Amino acid sequence: MEDLTRRRALSIGAVLGLTAVTSAPQAWSWSSKGSLAGTDAVADPFQVWDPVADDVAARLLAEGSIDSVNKAWRAWNRNSDALPAGLPGYLTDYLRDVNKLPSWADPALLAASEKLYKRLNSYLFVSESLGSGILSTVIPREARAVYWSAGGANMKERAAKTFTFGYDLHSPTTWQPQGFFVVSANKTRLVHSVVRNLLVTSKRFMETSDQPKPISNGDILITFHSVATVAYKNMKKWGIKVSEQEEAADLHAWQVALHLLGVQRQFIPASWEEALKQADQMLWPVVAPTAEGINLAKTLIGYIEDATLGLTSGFVNEMVRYLIGDKYADWLGLPRDWVMRGLIKVAWPVYVRFREGLSPVAPEALHLFDQFIRGVAMMFLNNGTSPTQTLITLPGANRPG
Ligand code: HEM
Repeated sequence: MEDLTRRRALSIGAVLGLTAVTSAPQAWSWSSKGSLAGTDAVADPFQVWDPVADDVAARLLAEGSIDSVNKAWRAWNRNSDALPAGLPGYLTDYLRDVNKLPSWADPALLAASEKLYKRLNSYLFVSESLGSGILSTVIPREARAVYWSAGGANMKERAAKTFTFGYDLHSPTTWQPQGFFVVSANKTRLVHSVVRNLLVTSKRFMETSDQPKPISNGDILITFHSVATVAYKNMKKWGIKVSEQEEAADLHAWQVALHLLGVQRQFIPASWEEALKQADQMLWPVVAPTAEGINLAKTLIGYIEDATLGLTSGFVNEMVRYLIGDKYADWLGLPRDWVMRGLIKVAWPVYVRFREGLSPVAPEALHLFDQFIRGVAMMFLNNGTSPTQTLITLPGANRPG
């Protein structure tokens, strides 16, 4: 892909008939009264990064320690695993501080989230892979960061690593000693810190960047909404029964996840109501096509088609359209398949009701949807944490070229 300048990104918008293509969020006005901190102040999460972790990452890069850290932490996977030997002392000190649940974590709610995710994980995987995975490609800052970082050159592997996070979060043992999530989240936080240090040295990335460095607290929250808030809304839309206590458990699991990713309490929504308000302010106004996002979406969809073996590209494209809506799908140039569209629109809700035991009527396409769900689950499982190693590694450089 040549010449990905801001002008080019803008011209793609112009070709698509869009008036403004910008990733700059509007002036921030969400009060932290609605946050876990509960303080009534308006602080801008797009001006907050992760200074302690970012300094650790800068030192690792400067000392050329990335490869040795990746090697040393290969065997560090479970929540109960001791910190690995062979890390630089300052990294061990940092991890000792952060590799634990916050004092405000509620064990009962976390245990309830494990039960909920066990029941719903196949729907969540559908929402998060074909839905949020592709949605992320129309979030300009995220699409550009992913494209220009090392992982952008191998989206198959990168998607696999990202699924590790979802799989570990939605596991029946997420928070238990034998679970993997706390470690996966801490590895991810440090990956983001390394990326913050690396991308500012990428000429191609900085040409279209509108921030001093990427992945602010605000940007992480945008991604949270594109995954968790969208899934929350999908469960409702699909008629899946989730009790109030289960909704609270789902939100709490994400609150702890956001904390582990370095988001400050003053920005973490305290209720779904506040989360929805935040998403309206920070996610939906910034979505836009970019050359990088269009490129990433193509690769990702190819990967999903591959993984769900036997499903036609017409079905996968229309399932994406069903999940993210035609406007964004048109930006990404997804082809249409009218037959599949009609089928999914009518039969998916019938399928979910049937599988949830809410209706005795099986849809005609029962087998197709079963196969689809199995394919998506396999994609997560194959990429999920194996008992011996997580896939998440620190990048040592930007995308070549
Ligand atoms: C890496 C998850 C937010 C950009 C990763 C990885 C995971 C992950 C699991 C490690 C696997 C990998 O290397 O691909 C998340 C979650 C987020 C979030 C759960 C928020 C809830 C963001 C945001 C951006 C971003 C907001 C950019 C604006 C990146 C980049 C990488 C990365 C560039 C490195 C890819 C590479 O290896 O080159 N993220 N992320 N992430 N993430 Fe995120």
